[in-house]
Amino acid sequence: MTFTIIRADQAGADVRTQMAEIFADGFTQWLHYFSKDRNRIAKAFAHMFVLDQFYVALQDGQVAAMAACTDGTATSVRLDSAQLRKHLGLIRGTFAGMVLQKEFEQLLHNPGGDKCSIEFVGTALPYRGQGAASAIIQYLLQHAAFKEFLIEEVADTNEPAMRLYAKLGFQEYNSKAMPEKHARKNGINRLVSLRYMKP
Ligand SMILES: CC(C)(COP(=O)(O)OP(=O)(O)OC[C@H]1O[C@@H](n2cnc3c(N)ncnc32)[C@H](O)[C@@H]1OP(=O)(O)O)[C@@H](O)C(=O)NCCC(=O)NCCS
Repeated sequence: MTFTIIRADQAGADVRTQMAEIFADGFTQWLHYFSKDRNRIAKAFAHMFVLDQFYVALQDGQVAAMAACTDGTATSVRLDSAQLRKHLGLIRGTFAGMVLQKEFEQLLHNPGGDKCSIEFVGTALPYRGQGAASAIIQYLLQHAAFKEFLIEEVADTNEPAMRLYAKLGFQEYNSKAMPEKHARKNGINRLVSLRYMKP
């Protein structure tokens, strides 16, 4: 399948809604504490995407996949606690804001002009396994004006993601062992940091 890759802020009115659905279906490990209702999650988080930091792969006008590419000095998402509380309720919304701000709004430790952080890579369920995520990342590797591409904190158990990045030439350069309690609970042993250097 061939995909058209464009920046999300140039993709039309419905892009934010479709990105939020990809997020709700793809990042459940962060989200199921706040609501089990996928549509509620999508509505609650749709506000957060900073569209000019994201690229999307389009197929027949639909968003098949998304990925952010930032220079690490500004975040690709911005959480608004009022929006979270509106959709998730006072307690869960407040809690989601506190927990996820720390997880999602991370800057690169040592940002520089030639480095990019790839974040929030996700493919819509009907398009999985058809090359959409590969297309978007390959586009970034070819067209984004950076030399070094980093993907931080991939769960070692996320086989689709680990294989995708390995296939595109990313290599592990760091990893963090998960505390044993977490490892037992969610099966993740390590969070892996990956890097691709342009030849
Ligand atoms: C990871 C993810 C983005 C892959 O997207 P995708 O568009 O389906 O990936 P592609 O079709 O481009 O696949 C490229 C390669 O990834 C690997 N891959 C993709 N899906 C896979 C799966 N279910 N199991 C094992 N490997 C898989 C394969 O190596 C594949 O190459 P192949 O088709 O030649 O075998 C998608 O599964 C997803 O959205 N997951 C949920 C969100 C997530 O975990 N994001 C990553 C956070 S770090």
